[in-house]
Amino acid sequence: MDRILVRGGPRLVGEVAVSGSKNATLALIAAAALAEGETILHNVPRLRDVDAMLELLRALGARADWHEEEGHAVRIDASSINRFEAPYELVRKMRASFLVLGPLLTRFGTARVSEPGGCAIGVRPVDQHLKGLTAMGGKVRLDHGYVEVTSSGLRGARIAFDLVTVNGTQNLMMAAALARGETILENAACEPEVVELAEALNAMGGSVRGAGGDRIVIRGVGSLRGIRHVVSGDRIEAGTLLAAAMVTLGDVRVTGIDTSMLESTLDKFREAGADVDIEATSVRVRADERPNAAGVVTAPFPGFPTDMQAQIMAVLSVATGSSLITEGVFENRFMHVPELQRMGANIVLSGRTARIEGVPRLMGAPVMATDLRASAGLIVAALAAEGESVVNRVYHIDRGYERIEEKLRGLGAEIRREG
Ligand code: UD1
Repeated sequence: MDRILVRGGPRLVGEVAVSGSKNATLALIAAAALAEGETILHNVPRLRDVDAMLELLRALGARADWHEEEGHAVRIDASSINRFEAPYELVRKMRASFLVLGPLLTRFGTARVSEPGGCAIGVRPVDQHLKGLTAMGGKVRLDHGYVEVTSSGLRGARIAFDLVTVNGTQNLMMAAALARGETILENAACEPEVVELAEALNAMGGSVRGAGGDRIVIRGVGSLRGIRHVVSGDRIEAGTLLAAAMVTLGDVRVTGIDTSMLESTLDKFREAGADVDIEATSVRVRADERPNAAGVVTAPFPGFPTDMQAQIMAVLSVATGSSLITEGVFENRFMHVPELQRMGANIVLSGRTARIEGVPRLMGAPVMATDLRASAGLIVAALAAEGESVVNRVYHIDRGYERIEEKLRGLGAEIRREG
């Protein structure tokens, strides 16, 4: 099994381009299942999660492949979908597979999707997705680990989410796109990946208004067509690379990213003492001395992203004072804490809050990646640690970061992968 070896110390310096957004891509592939005709997505990151989503579409009978001549592109034609079940073996690998539920149900009147597994970051129910589909006339049945929903034609409804859910908002937006009448989503997620999906649905011939705010109005249409779409840069990858710059007292510019998506992350980097230089599609972060302590509370967009929590914790582990991080989105997203402690970090957990007493230096150690972003946090920590770290179970990182070790090596990191 692959592992990543990191010798900490070198300052990261230089410029690096981010790949396309994983989370935007997964929702867009699901959306392609709504269309009659071919959808081509460009700037798609080459990741295990993307492969898993394409495999799922193929299992439904669609054509869904990498478009080799066009580099980072995928081609999906969902005209031939003739199966409506997302099997356990596929959904288990990736929770976002649940995103095919809305498209299948609204287009074909039936869908059976295994209850999701995915990242081990606390209980992650799907009740909000199901509440919405029920309000639109779907009949939900739970059957041996599967969620089965049928309908003789979804109709628009007013749905107020009890909490902010990104994939829940996306699933219902897609279901509503082909439903009869108007759907109003209240307390909708405002994440950029929701906005990008709305733009794509509109380009497909749909009618979605208000995405980016907490009230989204969708008017159902009779059919949707395939599109060409360029996926936006990955804001979490950008934040991770910049965290690596900070922790190594480096000077890094990331390119290929809409920097307005990064504000809450960059604010924290500034608070921690970095020089942040923002342009429309690139941002440079420089750090000259140990970070300052900072307070972080993760929250739905535009708050600080939960997907950056492990990485900022790695940065604050070497800060000059005491920091507090509160995880406000997921119940149990601190699995990286014991691993960081093994590297010498001084962290005390109490419920959803971590108190971090900064130490001057972390020590390299063998550590275990437990989920996607936890592994990113461990790599960030390892880059600043004294000596060598071995990050095991890197398949987690391959779910969400394309060629992470090559990108970091390009900035001067001593990092390599061992098979
Ligand atoms: C998405 C992102 C993930 C990110 C998360 C929060 C994708 C593929 N994944 O995940 O990287 O960490 O947003 O920004 O886009 N919840 C319920 N009931 C539901 C749905 C969610 O209680 O029906 C809870 C979850 O347990 C969690 C919170 O709501 O505590 C937010 O989860 P949600 O926004 O749905 O996360 P995902 O969309 O799965």
